[in-house]
Amino acid sequence: MTEAILLVGGKGTRLRPMTVHTPKPMVPAAGVPFLTHQLARARAAGVEHIVLATSYLAEVFEPYFGDGSSLGLHIEYVTEREPLGTGGAIRNVASRLRSGPDEPVLIFNGDILTGLDIPALVDTHETSGADVSLHLTRVEDPRAFGLVPTDPTGRVTAFLEKPQTPEEIVTDQINAGAYVFRRSVIDTIPTGRPVSVERETFPELLATGAHLQGMVDSTYWLDLGTPQAFVRGSADLVLGRAPSPAVPGRRGDRLVLAGATVAEDAKLTGGTVIGTGATVAEGARIDGSVVLDGALVEAGAVVTDSLIGAGARVGARTVLHGAVIGDGARVGADNELRDGVRVWCGARLPDGAVRFSSDQ
Ligand code: GTP
Repeated sequence: MTEAILLVGGKGTRLRPMTVHTPKPMVPAAGVPFLTHQLARARAAGVEHIVLATSYLAEVFEPYFGDGSSLGLHIEYVTEREPLGTGGAIRNVASRLRSGPDEPVLIFNGDILTGLDIPALVDTHETSGADVSLHLTRVEDPRAFGLVPTDPTGRVTAFLEKPQTPEEIVTDQINAGAYVFRRSVIDTIPTGRPVSVERETFPELLATGAHLQGMVDSTYWLDLGTPQAFVRGSADLVLGRAPSPAVPGRRGDRLVLAGATVAEDAKLTGGTVIGTGATVAEGARIDGSVVLDGALVEAGAVVTDSLIGAGARVGARTVLHGAVIGDGARVGADNELRDGVRVWCGARLPDGAVRFSSDQ
């Protein structure tokens, strides 16, 4: 049986709500909690058993996903008392694994949206005989990432911290957050304390002569670390750029969920999602954005690359560009909010309170 560990905990995950007090993996992307896409992709790749390693209460996930049978999976939940880091979280669920010592176990970071060819990564692992195999992706600007150079056969030669100078940029390959571990390697991770795979486990394995194999796969890849990236990811799922069997309905310019009301002359483009019970009034234009359940976008509002939280209200003619409006917040008419601004949950902004462009 193929099995996988999905990492969905960590220190920052709950403390940096995007709009909501919901942990990020449960915020809807293309109409379903983000985690659904990863679970469905794993299932489609032949995974049957998934252990969700989390450091928040399993109550967050379990009522929605249950035992996983609706997705054709068997899901178990393990909650850390204190966040154990990526490596610590993997080690902490070892007793739930059913694979034999030499069998492959897949591991996925829970905050990545990717079109990775999962069977190809397992195949690379098996044909190379590696101890650990990693999905590597190429990025244009590697300065914000730890680098993973490989030799001509794809064997990893180092794990380098974020480069500080141009000379330190020796490759554009970075760790893309999906691994295959030989099961017995998981048992060598220390127990009972936080461990980072990238900073501790992988460098130590290299130092002891273990075989770490990289597979560069330049498919769709997006780290959903920021709300803006999350909005992008949701739109790409709707547009079909990011593949997922869990997107409800057909791929296209928009996804309007059951129970939403959209005025006839409103324009929805760029993979916009309108949540259940949300209302979009006359003449509103919404592009590449997420409007969560029960939100209201009033007449003539222009919304681009933005997230509007559940039950929030965006006033008439207001312009949002790269904005995050928290759940239940009220932005009055004739405002202009841009460039990463976040209006906190429940906050109130009067009519005409904020502008960026001139008053003409
Ligand atoms: P470390 O390697 O532990 O230092 O974490 P990191 O900061 O390199 O990891 P990052 O924040 O990029 O998180 C990668 C994935 O692991 C995300 O999906 C996180 O939700 C998850 N994650 C990070 N830390 C923890 C943790 O302590 N426990 C669990 N269960 N998951 C974690």
